[in-house]
Amino acid sequence: MEHGQGAGEAAAGQSSSATSEPERVIPLDLEHLERHRIVAFNKHNLISSVFDLLRTQVLHKMKANNWRTLAVVSPTEASGKTVLAINLSMSIAHLLERSALLVDFDFRRPSVLRYLGTQSEKSLHQYLHGQCTLDEVLIHPQLPRFSVLGNREPVANPAELLGSSRTENFLQELREQNEERIVLIDLPPLISADDALAVLPRIDCAIMVVANGLSSEQEVRDSLRIVRQMSSTQLLGTVLNKSRDEQIRNPYGYTGEGA
Ligand SMILES: Nc1ncnc2c1ncn2[C@@H]1O[C@H](COP(=O)(O)OP(=O)(O)OP(=O)(O)O)[C@@H](O)[C@H]1O
Ligand SMILES: [Mg+2]
Repeated sequence: MEHGQGAGEAAAGQSSSATSEPERVIPLDLEHLERHRIVAFNKHNLISSVFDLLRTQVLHKMKANNWRTLAVVSPTEASGKTVLAINLSMSIAHLLERSALLVDFDFRRPSVLRYLGTQSEKSLHQYLHGQCTLDEVLIHPQLPRFSVLGNREPVANPAELLGSSRTENFLQELREQNEERIVLIDLPPLISADDALAVLPRIDCAIMVVANGLSSEQEVRDSLRIVRQMSSTQLLGTVLNKSRDEQIRNPYGYTGEGA
């Protein structure tokens, strides 16, 4: 594949059909995943049913509105966005008629590859800068219908890249390419920088993760205002994460917003 090839064409090889097998399968270290709270690959893990429930709620709204790109946002850092984005992607990939592509757009502090315990040849930011092919970035972890576009290292000034027409076209192509595929996008926090806001208007819908005790009421209010008023993306709902009361039964509580 030539550098600069369109995302649609480039990614077609791995999931042109929702049921096609990946080309290059990367083995996953299951202990590493569980240490990082990545559990949804394992249907026997009790917490994985929580992500299946969230999956059902999210996919119901996305299907009704023909939405295919989903951002995971939070007011402040360490709310659990990346962990949730990976688990939700895996849960979606368990559905035979669906596939999940997880895109790491947290260019400032990328962590998807680290949490998965794997690496790619090149980084997504390099592809968006026209420095490599998408094939060199794309990985297929050892779970059918699940693929990942990650970053090996942080990027300076990511808001410019996220707000660029190249990123806009890339998202548009990913969206148009495969009707059955859900593209999940891991983003940095909303409050600390304008990275997330730069790209949110190009993403169909979002869920907001709020970690118990980590964000103030004002930060939550500000974040909701940012998503609702400054971006055209639709907020599907909020997930209350790390809830002390629910920790044993269900560490994730979901509140739908009504799309
Ligand atoms: N439900 C949970 N209960 C307890 N700890 C959790 C939960 N979800 C995530 N964590 C932990 O919280 C930390 C932050 O998680 P994660 O990296 O997913 O957050 P983030 O919102 O993506 O952070 P950042 O804003 O830095 O990207 C990690 O150590 C993770 O293991
Ligand atoms: Mg993160």
